[in-house]
Amino acid sequence: MSERHLGPFKSLRDYLHALNQHNLGIHINNVNQDKYEATGFIYKLIEKYGVINSPVVFFDQIKSGGIDFKNASTGNLFGKWNLEALALGLPIKDLSPQKSYQLAVNKIEKHIDKEGKWPTIKPELVSPNLAPCKEIIINENEVDLFQFAFLQTNPGDNGHYINTGSIILEDEELGRNVGTYRCQIKDSRKIGINPQVNQDGWKFLQKLKEQGRTTAQAAIVLGTDPITFSLSGSKVAKYGEDELEIAGGLMGEAIEIIKCETNDISVPAHAELIIEGEIPLEDFESEGPFGEMYGYLGAEQEKNFFLNVKSITHRNNPIIPNQFTGITRGCLTAPIEGSLNRRFREQFREFISLHYPLEYPGFCFVKIKSVKAARASEIGEIISISLKIAKITILLDEDVDIHNLSEVLHAIGSRWQPSRSSKLIKDANGLSGDPSSIKKGRGSRIIINATRNATEEVNGQTFPKMNIQILKEESPDLMDKIESKFKEFL
Ligand SMILES: Cc1cc2nc3c(=O)[nH]c(=O)nc-3n(C[C@H](O)[C@H](O)[C@H](O)COP(=O)(O)O)c2cc1C
Repeated sequence: MSERHLGPFKSLRDYLHALNQHNLGIHINNVNQDKYEATGFIYKLIEKYGVINSPVVFFDQIKSGGIDFKNASTGNLFGKWNLEALALGLPIKDLSPQKSYQLAVNKIEKHIDKEGKWPTIKPELVSPNLAPCKEIIINENEVDLFQFAFLQTNPGDNGHYINTGSIILEDEELGRNVGTYRCQIKDSRKIGINPQVNQDGWKFLQKLKEQGRTTAQAAIVLGTDPITFSLSGSKVAKYGEDELEIAGGLMGEAIEIIKCETNDISVPAHAELIIEGEIPLEDFESEGPFGEMYGYLGAEQEKNFFLNVKSITHRNNPIIPNQFTGITRGCLTAPIEGSLNRRFREQFREFISLHYPLEYPGFCFVKIKSVKAARASEIGEIISISLKIAKITILLDEDVDIHNLSEVLHAIGSRWQPSRSSKLIKDANGLSGDPSSIKKGRGSRIIINATRNATEEVNGQTFPKMNIQILKEESPDLMDKIESKFKEFL
């Protein structure tokens, strides 16, 4: 495998080109999404290879809404763990998915500065001839959203959705916010938008309303470079921070931007497609249902925002990534994981690192140094409450690889006593999409202390060593020798 074609990538196309060069994608043809064949294919792929090992899928030809789209749709764009390293410019050759993912997280941890801040580079305005997203310009009267490869992913979804858009809002006073919220195609020029209550994008819209505005100018950007998209789809930037500046900082060069045709918003110039429009701030419509990230059909949202489209600009033959929500991983997660590691390490000297596997939403694995059970429980509770997704927070010892599910499950099975080492929080915040919550956004939580110390503290004895530990102590270089002696099999 070549070590060329590594990120950071300026555009989605550069990333896709690299995926092809590294043989990390597969191309399929003759896909009829009007019969949910793309969705079925993704399910089968994951059944065969697992979430973190399934290739990226290029739908070279796909039928959607009765139209045959050629080279216009992709799936599982961020599934494989080694894509995180690739996108961040790290070598991926001969590394296990876990190892390359950990390198990506380490890179982020080092990138964040001593004060815990993300270095930033301001976006740079370029001229229209240097902005591929302006190759085609469609005026309001000619806009027809049904002419693009926005798929209906599940039979229960309320129609076709844009589920990989970055919604950009801008205001002189408030700055810029970039966030990913699913968007329902409501008619040829109207799109429902779903920023959940208290998301930064939602707060931004409330602030505009408080300023007395009746509409917000907005742009939905599709097909940006992987870093910009992943910062848009995860809580790396705090409210008031600019995702594009942080993306530039991480990429080591300014994100090139260009002004919209019908408003003052600036958008990434190398994006595939830009939808410009206005969001009424006092008018709402129902949106959904939609097959959500937990893998279940969510409830219809009775009152959600919508956008009236004023113009579309795009590259020739735009590529629209489809997020098979609830099936594949939605974006690169090393940036948010590295950022949380830095934050919690600052907060608790006993904290080492955490991992929340998006493929099993609800879990959070936390690696800590050996501490008293009461302190472990305190750390677990604070982390659980501050991370909505961490409904089941599991505290683990330093020797457990938290990116290896077998090791995590093994540690839970062998080091945890449910009655002695669990803390139940009966009522706390929760993710609004959790289908087991009866009251939206609320739920209970559990902290599981699966560290050796939880047992040692009670019985006053040293927890038994694992067999592998005894073996390694006996023959420290055995594993390296095995690896070189039996290289062809391992
Ligand atoms: C593919 C994808 C789809 C998402 N859909 C939604 C959504 O519909 N609503 C929502 O509130 N958050 C959604 N999220 C999570 C948000 O994008 C994320 O929390 C982000 O931080 C929101 O931006 P903001 O903090 O600037 O509001 C999605 C994330 C991804 C990666």
